[in-house]
Amino acid sequence: MKSKQLSAIATVFFIAGIVLPGQLSAAAEATDNKAGIVDLEYGEEINETCAACHGEFGEGMPDGEYPRLAGLPQGYIAKQLRDFKTRARLNIPMLPYTSERELPEEDLVSVAAYLEQLELPTKLPPIDEDNFDAFARLQQGKRVINIARLDGNIQAGEKLYQKECSSCHARDGYGKPARKIPPLAGQHSEYLRRQFQKYRSGKRLHDDDADDKELFEEISEVQEHDMLSYLSILDDG
Ligand code: HEC
Ligand code: HEC
Repeated sequence: MKSKQLSAIATVFFIAGIVLPGQLSAAAEATDNKAGIVDLEYGEEINETCAACHGEFGEGMPDGEYPRLAGLPQGYIAKQLRDFKTRARLNIPMLPYTSERELPEEDLVSVAAYLEQLELPTKLPPIDEDNFDAFARLQQGKRVINIARLDGNIQAGEKLYQKECSSCHARDGYGKPARKIPPLAGQHSEYLRRQFQKYRSGKRLHDDDADDKELFEEISEVQEHDMLSYLSILDDG
């Protein structure tokens, strides 16, 4: 890591110098922690381990086993990784990867920052007929992620979501990065469904608040499905 410190420090200044609000707070957060260093190249290396489950581009799996990580707020990713470490959020498959030895703080913030800036298009660009390259097209296709539309009552789902959830997860479903609130739009429906179940059964705490168990218990399976179907169309735009 030492040999990388110089370039990492340069990266932090570079980010701060450009003054993009999200990245500025990223740099500020990085200097808050003990390690104090975000290194995107190093983050990319670490992601090779994560890719075995979450995919090369952090795209996750539609069956809900592995969530999408690409584009999640880095503060949120870092918090989840710390919660996995302390087992405040139990994630058995990830335990071997989140020990202090495997994922010290400097690795954790670097991989979180790398994953945040991975952008995945929601559709393929139009085919360039003069320069068609089948292999390049296949590679491009691997990055595209568009949540399949779930059948359900979208209007009912929208109403409930806007009433109960939008104050935190935002009206457009993309979360509030500065408050470490994750997007629900663009995330795999079956993964979200699993999290609902975990919140309801008390296996995971929503918003670090044990009382939220009730909020999720009050939502029926039909309402949950309707909300998921509403969320599934938010990335279509
Ligand atoms: C052996 C498979 C596996 C590996 C390797 C793995 N993960 Fe995970 N990860 C999971 C599973 C399974 C979940 C979902 C847990 C759940 O449903 O609560 C998850 C969840 C997460 C989440 C929570 C996402 C959210 O929306 O809350 C983050 C962040 C995450 N992983 C980051 C990483 C990073 C970074 C690495 C590499 C250092 C990594 N994972 C390596 C299996 C893995
Ligand atoms: C008061 C703010 C607040 C409200 C209201 C709220 N949430 Fe959340 N939600 C959060 C926070 C904060 C987290 C991240 C918690 C953590 O760090 O694990 C979260 C996480 C989640 C996750 C996990 C996402 C992931 O990637 O693992 C789901 C699913 C979720 N909320 C659904 C909902 C739904 C559905 C509603 C409305 C019924 C709702 N939330 C209302 C603050 C809120």
